[in-house]
Amino acid sequence: MRRLLLLSLAVLARCQTQTRFDCFPEPHGASQQACEARGCIWNQQSQPQSVPWCYMAPGVGYKLGSQSGATYSLKKNSGPKNPWGLDFPDVQLTTKTYGSILNVKITSGQRYEPPVDFPKQPATSSEQLTLSTDASTDVFSFAVVRQSNNRKIFDTSIGGLIFSDQFIQIATYLPSENMYGWGENTHQNIKHDFSGYLTWGMFARDQPPNSGSLDTMNLYGVHPYYMLVEPDGKTHGVLILNSNAQEVTTAPGPSLIYKTIGGNLDIYFFPGPTPEQVTQQYLSFIGRPFLPAYWSLGYQLSRYGYKNLDDVKARIGAVRDAGVPIDIGVIDIDYMDRYKDFTTGSNFNGLSSYVQQMHDWSMKLILIFDPAIEVDYPSFQRGISANAKFIEWENANQVMHSIQDMYPLAKDTKIMLGVVWPDNHVAFPDFFDPTSNTQNWWISEFKNYRSQVAFDGIWIDMNEPSNFGTNDPHPWYFDNPDHPNAAPLFCPMNNSWDMPPYLTHSVWRFGDASTGAYLATNTLCLLAVQANNQQRFYNTKNLYGLSEAISTQQALFQSTGKRGAVVSRSTFPSAGRYAGHWLGDNTARWEDLRTSVIGAQEFNLFGIPYVGSDVCGFNGDSNEELCLRWQQMGAFHSFFRNHNTIGAPPQDPAVWPSVAAASKKANLFRYQYLPYLFSLHFIASMNGGTVVRPVFFEFPMDTETLNLSEQFMWGKSMLIAPVLKQGATSVNVYLPEDRWYSLSDMTYGIIVSEGYRTMSAPTTSLIPVFVRGGSIIPRQTPAITTDATRQNPFEALVAPDANGNAEGVLYWDDGETIVKDFGSHPYHQWQYTYNFTSGGTTRLSIKHSKSTTVPVPTLDILEIFDFRGTPDYRSFKLNGQTVNINVQTSSYSPITKRLYISTKGLIDLSKGDVVLEWNSSSSSTLEFSPKMVALESNRYELKL
Ligand SMILES: *[C@@H]1O[C@H](CO)[C@@H](O)[C@H](O)[C@H]1NC(C)=O
Ligand SMILES: *[C@@H]1O[C@H](CO)[C@@H](O)[C@H](O)[C@H]1NC(C)=O
Ligand SMILES: *[C@@H]1O[C@H](CO)[C@@H](O)[C@H](O)[C@H]1NC(C)=O
Ligand SMILES: *[C@@H]1O[C@H](CO)[C@@H](O)[C@H](O)[C@H]1NC(C)=O
Repeated sequence: MRRLLLLSLAVLARCQTQTRFDCFPEPHGASQQACEARGCIWNQQSQPQSVPWCYMAPGVGYKLGSQSGATYSLKKNSGPKNPWGLDFPDVQLTTKTYGSILNVKITSGQRYEPPVDFPKQPATSSEQLTLSTDASTDVFSFAVVRQSNNRKIFDTSIGGLIFSDQFIQIATYLPSENMYGWGENTHQNIKHDFSGYLTWGMFARDQPPNSGSLDTMNLYGVHPYYMLVEPDGKTHGVLILNSNAQEVTTAPGPSLIYKTIGGNLDIYFFPGPTPEQVTQQYLSFIGRPFLPAYWSLGYQLSRYGYKNLDDVKARIGAVRDAGVPIDIGVIDIDYMDRYKDFTTGSNFNGLSSYVQQMHDWSMKLILIFDPAIEVDYPSFQRGISANAKFIEWENANQVMHSIQDMYPLAKDTKIMLGVVWPDNHVAFPDFFDPTSNTQNWWISEFKNYRSQVAFDGIWIDMNEPSNFGTNDPHPWYFDNPDHPNAAPLFCPMNNSWDMPPYLTHSVWRFGDASTGAYLATNTLCLLAVQANNQQRFYNTKNLYGLSEAISTQQALFQSTGKRGAVVSRSTFPSAGRYAGHWLGDNTARWEDLRTSVIGAQEFNLFGIPYVGSDVCGFNGDSNEELCLRWQQMGAFHSFFRNHNTIGAPPQDPAVWPSVAAASKKANLFRYQYLPYLFSLHFIASMNGGTVVRPVFFEFPMDTETLNLSEQFMWGKSMLIAPVLKQGATSVNVYLPEDRWYSLSDMTYGIIVSEGYRTMSAPTTSLIPVFVRGGSIIPRQTPAITTDATRQNPFEALVAPDANGNAEGVLYWDDGETIVKDFGSHPYHQWQYTYNFTSGGTTRLSIKHSKSTTVPVPTLDILEIFDFRGTPDYRSFKLNGQTVNINVQTSSYSPITKRLYISTKGLIDLSKGDVVLEWNSSSSSTLEFSPKMVALESNRYELKL
C-alpha cells in the first residue's frame, strides 16, 4: 500500500517538474524579449535560482522516418527549432554491440570522429542491455533497458534531441541519482547532485582547481563518462565518445542533459552489474592502464622554484636524513636553460652526476617536459630538419607575420606561434602527424637528452595545450620579471571555430567576449589545423594531452629501455594506457586536501589509477598540520608526490619534525604494503579495474556508502579514512556490514564493529586504516627505498572472515621490464588461501599459478588476526615435512588472538605450490575485548 502510494507520488512529481531545456545559457543578455526572439518560453515565477527561466517549448526532437534493422532514420519534427544552428533534417540512429557493451550512435552523414585508437575489446557480462524505441508520437525516443529487471537505464522520452552542425543535445531520465564521474572538474562530493540544475564544463583548460566552494569550471582533461548505481545496487557505465567542447547538466527528475558542439552522439553502455565490472568493461573498450614501474609507487619530492642543483640536493638530503622513505626526486622547469625542453641551465651543472648519485642510492629522477618548443634553438632546428609538424594556421595568409618573421626557422611556415615559459615564441608539436616524423623527432629529442641526464620518468605538463595570453593585449607575463614581453597570439574571431554559435559552459563560466572569455583563452586558436589540414584543432584540442602522452611513453621506453612512468596533466579516455595524472595546481588548503580524495577516486573510474594530488598543496603557503595530514593521506594514493610552487616556503617533510615523524610512519606503512598496492595495479593493468576504489564499489547495496566522499578503499580489502579537518584528532568512519580489523597503532589487529565509528587519529599515529575480513594481504618488511624494500622478506597478513577463512593474491615481476603483453610478460602470481579449523588443523595454501625466473624473497612472516586457538609450534608442516618455527621471534596472544610467526626462510615462494599446516588446541576461554587491547596489546602478549 505504502509502496504504491510512493510510486504514484513519484510519477506525479515527474509530471510536475518538467525538465527545462535551457534556451539562454549565456551569462549576459537574457530577457523575456531576447528569449522569445529565440522561440523559447520565458517563465521566471518563484522557481529556485538554478531552474532556467528561458527554456525550449515542448516537442523538441525528431520523429521516426523509417527503420531498417538496427538503423533508425529520423526526421526533424514540427517541434521548436534549435536556436544555435540549422537542425539537420535527417539523422540516423544505429546500434552495435561489443560483447555485452551496447553502442547507440546518432549521427548525420560523415562527421568528425575522434582519432583515438581504442582497442574496443568486447566485454562479457551476466547482464544484457537492449534498445527499445517509442515512435508513437512526434518525438521519437529510445531507452536502454536492462534485460534482467526491465529497468530503463537511459530513457530519452524526456525529449530534447537536437542535432545541428555545431550544437548537439540529448537528454535522458535516469533510474537513480547515484551518479559518479564526468570530468575533469572539482567535485565537492563523490555523488552528483540532482536537487537543482547544475552544469559542468568539459573542455581541456590550463585551469587550477578551485576547491573552496562549488565551482563547475572545466579543468585540464575531458572525461565524458559516468557510472550510475541503480536502486537495487546494479550499476552501469556510460561513455559519450566526443572530443569537442561539451557540457553536462544534472537536473531534477533525475535527468541529464548533454550538449556538445561537434562530432556525434556516440554512446556506449556498460552493463556491469557491479561497479568494478563496469570499470573492467569500460577499460576493455578504451584500453587498460599501463603498469607503473615498481619504483614509481615510491614517495616523490618535488617543487617549482628550486634555485639550483644544490637546493635540490639539500632538500632531498634533509628528507633522507630524517629517515623518511623516499624514492624519487622530481624537478620542474627550473632545471632547464631558460625553460627550453632538452636543455640544462648553468645553475643545474652537475645534474648528470647527481643522477648517478641518486641511482647509487636506488633513487630515481623524474623531469618535466612541456610540449611547446621555442622556435630558435637546436631542438626546433632538428624538428624542422626532420620534417616534424606543428599545429598550424590553415592558410598562409592567416599567419601573424609580426611574430613569425622574427624567427628565421619559422618565417616561411604556417606554424601557429604562441608563448609559454620560454623567453621567445614557441611551436606546438603535432602528435597527429600521419607521417610519424613528429613522433620520431620527439622520441629522438628524449633519447638525445637522456644521454646527458639519465632521467627515469617523464612528467608532461601544459598540454591542454596551454598558451599564455591568447587574445590579451596585456597578458600576465608582461608583469613578470622572469618573462620577456613576447607578443601574444591573437585569433581572428570571424570564424565558426573560434566563435561557434554555442560556446558552452567552458567559456560562459568565465564570461563572454565582453570580458575576454573565448574557447581560445589560455590555448591556441580553434581554427588551427593538424595532420596536414586533415584535423581541426576545434575538434582535437581535447586530445592534445592524450596524443602527447602516446608519443612520450614511446620516448620513455626508447630512451630508458624500461617501463618507468609518465604523468600527464591533460587526459582523455584511454590516457591511462600511456600515463598517470596528478590533480593539478591545487592550493594549500584543507578544502583541497578533501577534494583530492574525491578526485583520485574519479580518475580510477576513468581508467587512470596512477593518480594523486600535490601533497601539502601547490599554490599558497602550506603549514605544519595541513602538510602532516596531507602526507598521511597521500601515502595512500598511487602517485604520491609532495609539490610546491615557486616563492612558497619549503614544505618537504623535513621542514617540521612532526611532519617528518608522521611521514616516516606513513611512508613505512606504504612501503610495507607495496606488494598489495603493486598487485592491485598489476590486476588493473592486466584485467582492468580500479586501485583506489570508492567504498560503494564493494558495497553498492548499502545506501550509506553511496555518498561517502572522504574515505576510500585499496582494492576490495583495505579501507582508509584520512583526517581531512583542521584540528581533528579523530575520524568518524563508516564501516559497511562486514568484518573489519584496524591497522592503526593503538587498535592494531582488533575487530571494529560496523556502522559509524569514531576512531582516534592523533597526528602521531597512522590515519585509520582497516583490513576487511576474509583477506590475505601480501606485504614486505619496509626499508628506505622501494628497491631496498623489494629485497626484504615477504610477509602475509591474514585477516579471517567470521568462518575463519581468507584469501588473497600477489603479483610480482622485476618492476621495470616494459610490458608488451601479459601473455609473454615474465611475472609471478600466487593465490593464497587460509582455512582455520578450531581445535584442528589450520592450513595456508599458496598456489604458484604463474612463475618466471625473476628472483623472489622468501616468505618469512605470517601475521594472523583472530586466531582462535593456541598454536602448537611443533606441529608446523610445510608440504608434509616438519618445519622448525623460530619460537624466539614468534608469538601468540590469547587476548588479542594475534598469531605472529617469524622464521627466516620459512617459505620459498619460487618453488611451486606450498601448503603450510599446523595444529592448535581449541580456543581459550579468555574473550577478546577491544578495551583490554587498547590498554597496550604487547603487554599481554605471551611468548610460547
Ligand atoms: C553528500 O554528502 C555531503 C556531506 O558529506 C552533503 O553535503 C551532500 O549534500 C550529499 N550529496 C547528495 C547528493 O546527497
Ligand atoms: C577575418 O578577419 C581577418 C582579420 O582579423 C581578415 O583578414 C579576414 O579577411 C577576415 N575573414 C573573413 C572571412 O571575414
Ligand atoms: C577456505 O577458504 C576459502 C577462501 O575464503 C574458501 O573459499 C574455501 O571454501 C575454504 N575452504 C574450506 C574447506 O572451508
Ligand atoms: C595435527 O592434527 C591432526 C588431526 O587432529 C593429527 O592427525 C596430526 O597428528 C596432528 N599433527 C601433529 C604434529 O600434532
